Amino acid sequence: MDQDFWQARWRDNRIGFHEAAPNSLLAQHFTRLGLQAGQSVFVPLCGKALDLDWLVGKGLRVTGVEFNQGAVEEVFARQGLAPQVAKTGALTRYQAGTLTLYAGDFFALTEEHIAPVDAVYDRAALVAVKPEDRRAYAAHLNRIAGTAKQLLIGFDYDQSLMQGPPFSVPGETVQALYQDTHAITLIEERAADGRIGERCNALEQAWLLAPKG
Ligand SMILES: C[S@@+](CC[C@H](N)C(=O)[O-])C[C@H]1O[C@@H](n2cnc3c(N)ncnc32)[C@H](O)[C@@H]1O
Repeated sequence: MDQDFWQARWRDNRIGFHEAAPNSLLAQHFTRLGLQAGQSVFVPLCGKALDLDWLVGKGLRVTGVEFNQGAVEEVFARQGLAPQVAKTGALTRYQAGTLTLYAGDFFALTEEHIAPVDAVYDRAALVAVKPEDRRAYAAHLNRIAGTAKQLLIGFDYDQSLMQGPPFSVPGETVQALYQDTHAITLIEERAADGRIGERCNALEQAWLLAPKG
């Protein structure tokens, strides 16, 4: 979706995607990423997810990107952190301790902004991208994150029942996007909560993507 769409969602507080607690599939399956304290995780399209705080709490270096500056600032404020703020091209970099968040467009991020990346955590990011932009999203993510391993959490539902976002990203789409670079395993699927669960019987799915070769 374009930036105006998302900024309007934030401005009008239409952020039903934001969860009141860290995503429970993250907590359940995090160890499958095999990360040690001190390693780095990249969180694309991160919103103000409490997942960020949870990952910092695991001793990881956490880097995210989000269009909405207010959301980025809120993450630091709720952790009592006073970030250093610097412009870097079209992005604004907020950094305190092991947390770095870029306010701006994911597609403006380069490998230099986020390296090193030991793992990617995508929750409601790929499903937020317009279907026609998915290939570009996955290719850009692989490019800047060095084809890192990934925990991917998304939805599968009958797209005719609801307009996205979130869009339905069924298994065959995950395969089409990542099978050249990653071995893909469905590690859990469950009935989705909230509106998407009620309206479309959506499944929330967690995928583990392990780099090939
Ligand atoms: C569905 S929300 C998910 C947010 C977060 N991952 C979570 O679980 O709460 C998608 C977020 O991506 C942001 N976003 C969408 N496209 C973006 C882009 N190209 N660059 C940066 N942020 C983007 C939106 O502002 C929105 O906050």
